[in-house]
Amino acid sequence: MSQKPVVDVKNLKVHFPIHGGVISKKVGTVKAVDGISFSIGRREIVGLVGESGCGKTTVGRAMINILHHVAPDVEIDGEILYHFGDETVDFAKLTSREVRKYRSRVQMIFQDPYASLNPRMTVSQIIEEPLKLHTNQTENERRNTVINLLEKVGLQAVHADRFPHEFSGGQRQRVGIARALATNPDLIICDEPVSALDVSIQAQVINLMMDIQKEFDVSFLFIAHDLSVVEHISDKIAVMYLGNLMEFGPAKQVYHHPKHPYSTALLSAVPIPDPEQKNRQRIVLEGDVPTPINKPSGCSFRTRCPVAEDKCAESIPHLKELDPNHWVACPIVAD
Ligand SMILES: Nc1ncnc2c1ncn2[C@@H]1O[C@H](COP(=O)(O)OP(=O)(O)OP(=O)(O)O)[C@@H](O)[C@H]1O
Ligand SMILES: [Mg+2]
Repeated sequence: MSQKPVVDVKNLKVHFPIHGGVISKKVGTVKAVDGISFSIGRREIVGLVGESGCGKTTVGRAMINILHHVAPDVEIDGEILYHFGDETVDFAKLTSREVRKYRSRVQMIFQDPYASLNPRMTVSQIIEEPLKLHTNQTENERRNTVINLLEKVGLQAVHADRFPHEFSGGQRQRVGIARALATNPDLIICDEPVSALDVSIQAQVINLMMDIQKEFDVSFLFIAHDLSVVEHISDKIAVMYLGNLMEFGPAKQVYHHPKHPYSTALLSAVPIPDPEQKNRQRIVLEGDVPTPINKPSGCSFRTRCPVAEDKCAESIPHLKELDPNHWVACPIVAD
């Protein structure tokens, strides 16, 4: 088995042109993702966090190459290098047609399991769909795979012939997980998979994902708002702000000893029952997130940063490795 990461994202940019006027000419650009780099290792769970609108979903969509369906004129630059066995494939360069061949290798689970499961299909049909497309299994074999997968995600064979509306939110998300697993993917991208669920159900679904990660040879990109969820599940955490990565490193390090002022501020908003940190200062960020249409020059966080200096406006800071595998993009902290 190759020891290369599952995926290397290199200087990824995703810009959405804004058109205006009667002849619909380009009047601006939403810089949703503005040059980010990170990798996800084999059997690794990477958590991606940041405030609303900072570009997390766009990163996930770019990584499964579905952005052209959402926004046909999207501009994508950089590399999304998947290492499938001996083959290396750049998803940033593939057309929708070319990517079909690799569809089974990267799957996505969405926030709202109701909207992402076809209400007219039974659970069995939903899970079978990718099997029909990507495997040569016979009808009987597919039926067995479906039942096996249902059991793996904590459901039962009797659920196979029911429709999505007959399930609770947590159960529907389990169906989504079973479908994602059906093709035995290398990577599953989960876009806020538990934020629509009751808190009591969230923990069950997260535990299930952790079990699955151990049992199947699969990596996860886990997008979330809630840092405490990410800390629990992730090996590494990436912190994003206005289209850039501010910090990327081992989950425990980033969570307990954040280095970037933005990560520190994000974390200070999380209540943690940790006696060591209970006297921690709470940092309240002033102002709203600026728009990705008109980003501040240099470090995009500088307009809200408590330690910003003049030099922060000069150029976009690159990630620097401050501790082993712990990267920080800040001209003050990582000078
Ligand atoms: N199809 C699109 N066309 C134009 N702009 C878009 C499109 N999709 C996203 N954007 C813009 O890109 C930016 C990043 O959006 P994105 O949905 O990736 O953020 P997010 O971090 O997932 O936010 P949330 O936490 O609210 O889900 C936002 O300013 C958004 O308005
Ligand atoms: Mg999102």
